[in-house]
Amino acid sequence: MLYAVCLYVCVCVCVCVCVCVTAQKTVLIVYAHQSPGSFNAAVRNVTVKALEEQGCRVIMSDLYAMNFRANATYDDIIGDWKNPELFQYGEETMHAWKEGRLSEDIVAEQNKIKEADLVIFQFPLYWFSVPAIMKGWMDRVLTQGFAFSLEKMYNNGVFKDKKAMLSFSTGAMPTMFRPDGINGDINVTLWPLQNGILHFCGFQVLAPQIFWCPVHSPHVARTAMLEGWQARLKGLFAERPLTFAPCELFDLSFQGGFLLHPSVREEYRSLPYGITTGHHLGKPLPPDNQITAQPPDENSGNSASEDNQITAQPPDEDSANSACEDNQITPQPPDEDSANSASEDNQITAQPPDENSANSACEDNQITPQPPDEDSANSASEDNQITPQPPDEDSANSASEDNQITAQPPDENSANSASED
Ligand SMILES: *[C@@H]1O[C@H](CO)[C@@H](O)[C@H](O)[C@H]1NC(C)=O
Ligand SMILES: *[C@@H]1O[C@H](CO)[C@@H](O)[C@H](O)[C@H]1NC(C)=O
Ligand SMILES: *[C@@H]1O[C@H](CO)[C@@H](O)[C@H](O)[C@H]1NC(C)=O
Repeated sequence: MLYAVCLYVCVCVCVCVCVCVTAQKTVLIVYAHQSPGSFNAAVRNVTVKALEEQGCRVIMSDLYAMNFRANATYDDIIGDWKNPELFQYGEETMHAWKEGRLSEDIVAEQNKIKEADLVIFQFPLYWFSVPAIMKGWMDRVLTQGFAFSLEKMYNNGVFKDKKAMLSFSTGAMPTMFRPDGINGDINVTLWPLQNGILHFCGFQVLAPQIFWCPVHSPHVARTAMLEGWQARLKGLFAERPLTFAPCELFDLSFQGGFLLHPSVREEYRSLPYGITTGHHLGKPLPPDNQITAQPPDENSGNSASEDNQITAQPPDEDSANSACEDNQITPQPPDEDSANSASEDNQITAQPPDENSANSACEDNQITPQPPDEDSANSASEDNQITPQPPDEDSANSASEDNQITAQPPDENSANSASED
């Protein structure tokens, strides 16, 4: 009898606690728009209302209204610097965070993050990125130590039990951000924000909410966008996050250069896609990598094992409480033969000029002349965002892959190359 009563009480307490935990989810909206009449304001209002109706607690950082300071300066530190000779913001703020000497406005924002289960960044896309005031929030609030460390980054990151997402409006129409559109692939645009900032700090990143071109959309279309978002919000906590490459795929040592383990690289040689938008390995980008969460992988036996390394995510069954769950990206076992990984791919070698592939180089290179590439598609692809490319003797692909990294040397045999001048 006593046992039965006990059990009854326990079950009651359990149910109650579960309900409360669900109800008490806290969402931080980091919001950057100047005008209360804007579409972004309307989105924010819908977000607040819908989340509060679900029982969430919503806290807001209205950055312009707060006059949030965007510049990362020594004003962020209270007291003496560790190194008075040379002020280094990252170092000094890390020490200041440890010693409780960060400026008050930063600490207030950090406390909001600590409370949040989900952080939504709401903004209009500025220059393929967040507005400066929001970038300033990221620069100043995501302090080393508080938000990341070398040991705690990406899927092992400080905020791995929290979720974050971008919700933004564009001035561009969607086709402009297609891989064949004028602005290029939106997945590429989102990579630095979603991988480089949010996931770097450990956040599970939910698929972005993109409001395409509201300013040029008729009222009905704007309303439809808001309604679509409102509907999505109902199931937001149940959503699976985007897929990123877990740290365990890499040799996490300075000696090893933080490079992909050779066996993983080897595994990818025969696969059709790269690992992520950023870890493309010179292959086609994995489809929708920065846009859509991957469905649970049901047949994880053979062909699925290709994705297994990176994407094997546990199916999310009890979606109501999913916000409380740990990172969905399964850590991978370390790879034994990592000794040679650092030398495997040389990122530094300049590429030899390309004498007869003028057309391909010119087609892909709108900004920087590409250095020639004598022999290697791989080496070219690795420099893509860094070095102007040398001319490429034999490969259209390699030329296009180095496009953002290496300036291309003039191509002597080519009428087109003259157009550089
Ligand atoms: C959003 O809500 C605020 C505060 O209630 C209000 O002042 C503003 O007009 C609303 N904006 C839009 C576009 O709905
Ligand atoms: C940083 O910005 C604030 C205003 O937000 C300004 O008062 C201050 O002078 C700036 N500091 C530097 C070093 O530019
Ligand atoms: C990236 O995102 C869009 C969806 O907006 C998709 O249509 C496009 O093909 C994607 N690019 C890749 C490489 O998946």
